[in-house]
Formats: sequence, structure tokens, C-alpha cells
Amino acid sequence: MPKAIEGRRLTLSKVAEVLEATGIMRGSITSPRIECFTPHFLTFTTLKLIMSQHKEVKRITTNTLLKMKQTGEKIAMLTAYDFSFARLIDAAGIDVILVGDSASNVMAGHETTLPITLDQMIYHAQSVIRGISHCLVIVDLPFGTYQSNSDVALASAVRIMKETGAHAIKLEGGAEAVESIKRIVSAGIPVMGHLGLTPQSIYKFGTYNVRAKEEAEAGKLKEDALLLQEAGCFGMVLEKIPATLAKEVTQSLIIPTIGIGAGAHCDGQVLVMHDMLGINSEFKPRFLRQYLQLHALIDTAVKHYIKDVKEKDFPSEKESY
Ligand code: KIV
Repeated sequence: MPKAIEGRRLTLSKVAEVLEATGIMRGSITSPRIECFTPHFLTFTTLKLIMSQHKEVKRITTNTLLKMKQTGEKIAMLTAYDFSFARLIDAAGIDVILVGDSASNVMAGHETTLPITLDQMIYHAQSVIRGISHCLVIVDLPFGTYQSNSDVALASAVRIMKETGAHAIKLEGGAEAVESIKRIVSAGIPVMGHLGLTPQSIYKFGTYNVRAKEEAEAGKLKEDALLLQEAGCFGMVLEKIPATLAKEVTQSLIIPTIGIGAGAHCDGQVLVMHDMLGINSEFKPRFLRQYLQLHALIDTAVKHYIKDVKEKDFPSEKESY
């Protein structure tokens, strides 16, 4: 029982608010069964009774994602790197949080994903895990922690699982990553693949342009996708490739594909949270839909605060002890 509601008489809306925030009973609080207990107040005992019948928090697993592909339900994935945003995103009902190595860009301000370390990824993943109650959490293996050989790859994956409580790892690459994927999967760790524009190889590609437009690269990508599936991946990210190619790959696989700049036919979509919330106003690639212009809201709020402080309007007497 959450501390905020223990031992209190509660309005239905307060119960809904607290349970939504904790993720314990998303959606079900407004069911007619609960309304009929009492239209105004819910006692602690009644609430305990209801909660005992709805004890399970439905957790998303890699099997859930497979079933979603089979039934045609699209998978919604976002990145997150800290406790507060992970809590918000999880409570809103996201299926998957990716603790992406894009943290290197959006959290640490690096130009590429290459500098972020395993220790830093572990720190971000630990924070995210403390904020979630139902979604699947996947953590990127950062550059340099799996490419050299499968022993190193397995050791890195084990550290992430052991030290963070995350549910799966993701790594970039096709045929060249297969041996490591097999070792990690046989240790019981679910692995998500990542093909197309793989940002850890940015200095090989030279640009962040769309990949696999040419037949040779598209052919290799199709082969790689099948290899990743055979190696035991439970899904894969397809980044910045033509929509027709992503559709073909998606239809050729049993496991789900999650697209970013890969069109509408993937089994799910992923965006970097900072991009979709419009925290960085300059980053506007074609594939991105901005659901908020948070940079403008934050700018206004901060300017307002500065003005209030300078003009001695904040804090007021009511805001003082
Ligand atoms: O690190 C990341 O955010 C990613 C997504 C772009 C798929 O790998």
C-alpha cells in the first residue's frame, strides 16, 4: 500500500491520482465495480480489498512484445535516462524504455555516442529502474564494451543486468556481433539488435544520412536481420533506412522490429525522449514528430523565475516559514 494513502479516508479521484502515479492500478480505478462501492469515499479497508483483487502490476516482457507483433498491436518505445522521466513515461503507459547510449548526446552533451562509459550507462539504468513499475527496460551496451570479443561482451552485459535490474540489453551490428549475441543469450540475457544507421559507427559512415539505400547495403541488412533472429535476439531496432526495406525486413522476421526513421511498417517505434518533447529546438530531422515544444515552455518559466527573484516578488510571505 503506498504511504500516501495508508490509513486515510479518500476521495475516489485522490485514490486514482495516487494509484496512477505509483502505477499500481493504471486504468482500473475508474471501473464501474469500484464506483459502486461508494460514489464519494473509499475506506482503507475497501481499497485494500480492491487492491488484493488487482494485485498484479502487468509487466511487459520480451514475450509480450512477441505477442504484440503477432496480434498487430504496435510497440511504443521511448528513451529515458533518469528516475523522474522514467516514472512519468512508465505511468503514462509506455511499453518499453530504452536507456540509450544517446545519453551521451542528450545528457552529457557529447557530439557522438562514443564517449559514454559502461559505468555511466549503469548509473542511468539504475535511476530508470527505480522509476518504473510495468514497462520493459532495455539498456544499450556502450561503444567499446562488446566489440572486441564475446568474453568482453558477456561480461559487460552481465554487469548491466546484475548492477541495474534492467530486463535486457541492446547492441549494434549484424554478422560481426552474432558470436557475442549468442554468448549473451545463452547466459539468459535477452538481447535486442540494432541495424541500419548504427551511431557507434558514425566515423565509418561519415554522416547521419539514411542507410541501405543501395542494393548491396540493403541486401546485407536483410541477411543481418535474419542472422540476429537466428542468434536469439528478441527484437531489433531499424534506424534510418528506407520504409520499403524496413517493411520487407519486418515481414521476413518472427521477432518485432522497432523503427526510428524507418517508416510505418515496423512493429513499433522509438524516439529519443528529449527530441519528441522538443527539449532541443535545433534537432528536427524528417522522422521526428515533436509532441511538445518544451524548450519554449522551459525558457518562459525560467525567465519568469529570474524576473520574480530580481524583482523581489519571490518568495512571498506565503512561500516563507
Ligand atoms: O541510444 C539510443 O537512443 C538509440 C535509439 C535511437 C534507438 O539507440
